[in-house]
Amino acid sequence: MSDTKEIKKVTTNTLQKMKKAGEKITMLTAYDFSFAKIIDGAGIDVILVGDSASNVMAGHETTLPITLDQMIYHASSVIRGIHRCLVVVDLPFGSYQSNSDIALASAVRIMKETGGHSIKLEGGEEVLDSVKKIVSAGIPVMGHLGLTPQSIYKFGTYNVRAKEEEEANKLRRDVKLLEEAGCFAIVLEKIPAALAKEVSESLTIPTIGIGAGGNCDGQVLVMHDMLGINTEFKPRFLRQYLNIHEQATTAVQRYIHDVKAKDFPNESEQY
Ligand code: KIV
Repeated sequence: MSDTKEIKKVTTNTLQKMKKAGEKITMLTAYDFSFAKIIDGAGIDVILVGDSASNVMAGHETTLPITLDQMIYHASSVIRGIHRCLVVVDLPFGSYQSNSDIALASAVRIMKETGGHSIKLEGGEEVLDSVKKIVSAGIPVMGHLGLTPQSIYKFGTYNVRAKEEEEANKLRRDVKLLEEAGCFAIVLEKIPAALAKEVSESLTIPTIGIGAGGNCDGQVLVMHDMLGINTEFKPRFLRQYLNIHEQATTAVQRYIHDVKAKDFPNESEQY
């Protein structure tokens, strides 16, 4: 018998059970090996390799420029850093919207080339054929409704979505369609808390909220925002747990000072 401690891995079934038991699901984004290792080691349930990598890793204004190859690079780095959590990988803009065959081919590349456990895509009724085709190939799919950043040029702003009845009704229909199509969970981004509560209670699959109030079945934040790496983004829904920007700036300034002052390296720091 092996004496290595067996790690119980998080699966889509685990998330389903957590919803049933009323246990909140925790999800954070990560894009590289080192942070994935920290976040998984801390006990997170789900890592999302978000296309927000386009913003926080590459410095683009929107999520639109990131490519499938770049998402594959980020996701395969994350996978090498984790042992326990479920990894969800975003299908980037342009890799699934045109038709369901292309969507499936993109999802298959993610699964084969990264070792990721599931994919996420944005939209409801419009992407239903793709969701069905990907699910029927055995690939778990997470939906994403409300503020869907890949449609920023259609929305025009990053404001709260589904405040008006017509858009709220479409979201009520879309969550049901995604559930019926086989999604294992749905991200609800920046919608009124009351609507998020209502749709979360109407579904058997879990909802993961970001700016959607405390009654979703789980929460997700972008790692760079909650760790204070990126301090320029301060929406109401964000809780910042650290200020790495400030701490890293101070550390770099101390290093510059020590080198200039000929204090680093000292005798014990050389061979
Ligand atoms: O790409 C991302 O980080 C996301 C989250 C904001 C849910 O989709």
